[in-house]
Order: sequence, then C-alpha cells, then structure tokens
Amino acid sequence: MARLKVGVLVSGNGSNLQTLIDLCATPDFPAEIVLVVSNKPDVMALERAARAGIATQVIAHQGFPDRLAFDQAIDAALRASDVEFICLAGFLRVLSEMFVELWHDRIVNIHPSLLPSFKGLHTHRQALDAGVRFHGCTVHIVRPLLDDGPILVQAVVPVLPDDDEQSLATRVLEAEHRAYPSALRLIAEGRVTIDGARARIDDKFPAVAELLMNPLDRPSLPLPNVPGRG
Ligand code: GAR
Repeated sequence: MARLKVGVLVSGNGSNLQTLIDLCATPDFPAEIVLVVSNKPDVMALERAARAGIATQVIAHQGFPDRLAFDQAIDAALRASDVEFICLAGFLRVLSEMFVELWHDRIVNIHPSLLPSFKGLHTHRQALDAGVRFHGCTVHIVRPLLDDGPILVQAVVPVLPDDDEQSLATRVLEAEHRAYPSALRLIAEGRVTIDGARARIDDKFPAVAELLMNPLDRPSLPLPNVPGRG
C-alpha cells in the first residue's frame, strides 16, 4: 500500500521532527516524510532532515510582502513534493485562513499545553502563574483560530513545587516526544475521523487503572465509599 506522504514545517531545533523521522523509519510504517520546510535557515531541524535523507527547503518569511504570499510559497513547495498531510513541529509562524482551509483536516500541530488552556506563547509561564497541578501538550488538527481545533492526543505531566519555566519545558518536551508519534501513527493508520469539533479515534486505549492525581497523596485507590453513593 502507498505510504501517506507527510510534509513537516519547522522553525528551530526539530526534536519533535526527529521523533517523527524515527517513527517513519520503523519497518512497514504507513507514512513517510517527503519534505521538511523551514522558515529559518541554518536550524538544527534542517540538519536532522538532511541526515535522514529527507528533502529540505528554506522559505524565509522575510522574503515575502505578506502572509498570504508566504503561505502560497509553502503550499506550492508541499504540492510539488506530492505532500498529502502536514505536521507542524515547532513552526513558529501563524498560517493564514486560506492555507488552513486549503489543507482542511490535513494539518496537525503540537502545542506545549493542555489545550484549551494556555494558548499562544510562554505556555509554561502561563501554567506556573495559574498554579495548575498538571500541564502537558496537545496534538490537534489545525483550524484558522490560533491553537484551536479537534484534539487527537494529549500527554500530561505534573507541575512540581520547585519547577521553573525551564524544568517544566523540559518535562513537557519529553511528553511531546511521546504524544506526536502516537498521533501520527493514528493518522497514518487511518484511525482518526473528524466529527465537528471532535476527533474520534478508532483505537482501544488501555483501561485507566488509577486516577491521575497530583500531588499523589492518596495511594489507596479505589475511592472510599461516600455516603449516599451507589
Ligand atoms: C515544542 O515545544 C513545540 O511544542 C513548540 O515549540 C517547540 C519546538 O521544539 N511549538 C509551539 O510553541 C507552537 N505554538 P522542537 O523544535 O525541538 O520540536
């Protein structure tokens, strides 16, 4: 069977791109990355792609009069490589509504928060300021509004008392490296259906044996009987 042709848009280090490259390298995986586009030259993500033998292209946003022209250039590059599906992996430009609609339901993004909390920039600072006990990342289908769209996969990490932005970012990034490959696998295996604002996943998740709780101060699960219950 033909493999799903994936294009990845990047702007920086590309550690998420690396997890997708590694995933696609597993035998018989039903997707392949055919093009990596960066809006910045000389970034590590381009090196990672080149090392894996993947075609790369730099499309610098400064070279275009406006966002539409920039997006059209990206669209043309992706189509020239027969891309069928787009992964945003640390791509730090906002895509126009035109582009998002051209690729409707065929773009996913990874965002470093548990959406719909903490959209936009500085998500780890936002989480610390809000005092949440859990933080994490979200892989979602891209819609024209920023950090909006049907959610495919989320991964949760605890927020610990001594965390600062850096320690939290490191923990979330590790979670991203588990979440993004899971999401691409679901997509490549055809297990995702978009149903309005929700993504339906045709998969059996393992039963959640324990409640997630942070701080983990109640080891004695299941919950005690509460008068009036059951
Ligand atoms: C990741 O944390 C990703 O979630 C974030 O940029 C980082 C890229 O790291 N993306 C966004 O904030 C998009 N709104 P990477 O280049 O090592 O994959």
